[in-house]
Amino acid sequence: MEVPPPLVLKRHLYVPSKTLMGPGPSNCSHRVLEAMSNPVLGHMHPECLQIMDEVKEGIKYIFQTLNDATMCISGAGHSGMEAALCNLIQDGDVVLMGITGVWGHRAGDMARRYGAEVHYVEASFGRALSWEELTFAFEAHRPQVFFIAQGDSSTGVIQQNIREIGELCRKYDCFLVVDTVASLGGTEFLMDEWKVDVAYTGSQKTLGGPAGITPISFSKRALTHIRKRKTKPKVYYFDILLIGQYWGCYGTPRIYHHTISSTLLYGLREALAHFCALGLKAVVRRHQECSKRLQLGIEELGLEMFVQREEERLPTVNTIKVPFGVDWKKVAEYAMRKYSVEISGGLGPTVEHVFRIGLMGENATVERVDMVLSILNEAIQSIKLKAVKTERSKI
Ligand code: GLV
Repeated sequence: MEVPPPLVLKRHLYVPSKTLMGPGPSNCSHRVLEAMSNPVLGHMHPECLQIMDEVKEGIKYIFQTLNDATMCISGAGHSGMEAALCNLIQDGDVVLMGITGVWGHRAGDMARRYGAEVHYVEASFGRALSWEELTFAFEAHRPQVFFIAQGDSSTGVIQQNIREIGELCRKYDCFLVVDTVASLGGTEFLMDEWKVDVAYTGSQKTLGGPAGITPISFSKRALTHIRKRKTKPKVYYFDILLIGQYWGCYGTPRIYHHTISSTLLYGLREALAHFCALGLKAVVRRHQECSKRLQLGIEELGLEMFVQREEERLPTVNTIKVPFGVDWKKVAEYAMRKYSVEISGGLGPTVEHVFRIGLMGENATVERVDMVLSILNEAIQSIKLKAVKTERSKI
């Protein structure tokens, strides 16, 4: 039997233009898209290695770190989570997961696969973890690794006190892993000052780069621990001693580990260059101002934010309660069909309960905030009206 070439691939590639106001990816700028149309380079070519060095400098700036072990994992944000846990965890290690939404559970699933004994400390629904919850869990479990998402994109909750958590981890001789995939650029993050051992972020959120290449950094303390492991990290692809050697992190000759996508590197390099030119503080301020404007608009529309405490709201992914009797999916479909604008529904524990509106990178502007508010309102009113008409037609 011969399998014929598929007919669908005879058609031209079709990609519609959409405004991505969900939890990410955000829209890439023209600068990023143009960069990605440059010629492909070999993964060991000096020009490619030079771009990797430039990307490393950009990552050190956005994380505010001087860590040598700063690089990218070739993979989506999830690969940062995998790499952090895979390198730190050895069989039988006690790992504590901070839960403010779905990401702590996802990390727990991964950690168990790497051989950890996993415990959870869970915040009340829609809340950040309290100091009492944290200290009680540390005392009860005495973890070797603690994981927390600074911003959980499923609930829109931000965990503000990473600095204090850093101190707590040192007190218990524990490594601190912070997922900043959805938060970096939307709120302050000071990796070295806050004693964070591993941090990773999403290239496709506030940075506005392409997905599939994940900035990550390991502290000197974490690196020393990884070098002293009794067994090698369980996944070759995530071994940061090998990846870091390819990225030229350790002052040793660069060796081939995997074939990096030069195309994604160009995109990330330009996204970082833009971010650095704007300046970290200005980027954070803009994201926060946009979120405040959105929150105000939501109130004016008679809608309600899901996270009750203002100081616990993540500026980048805003969660809004779905009004009673409204089908969130129909609202999202309306926005996409009529305006090609993505408004997302909930994830994990917030499915069906919230809309998620992302204000990230290119989409964190006053104009986009006003646009998405007006579309959300129009969509909800239209869906409500349709529901009333359907009810009436039954009478
Ligand atoms: C992805 O990050 C999501 O929150 O859906």
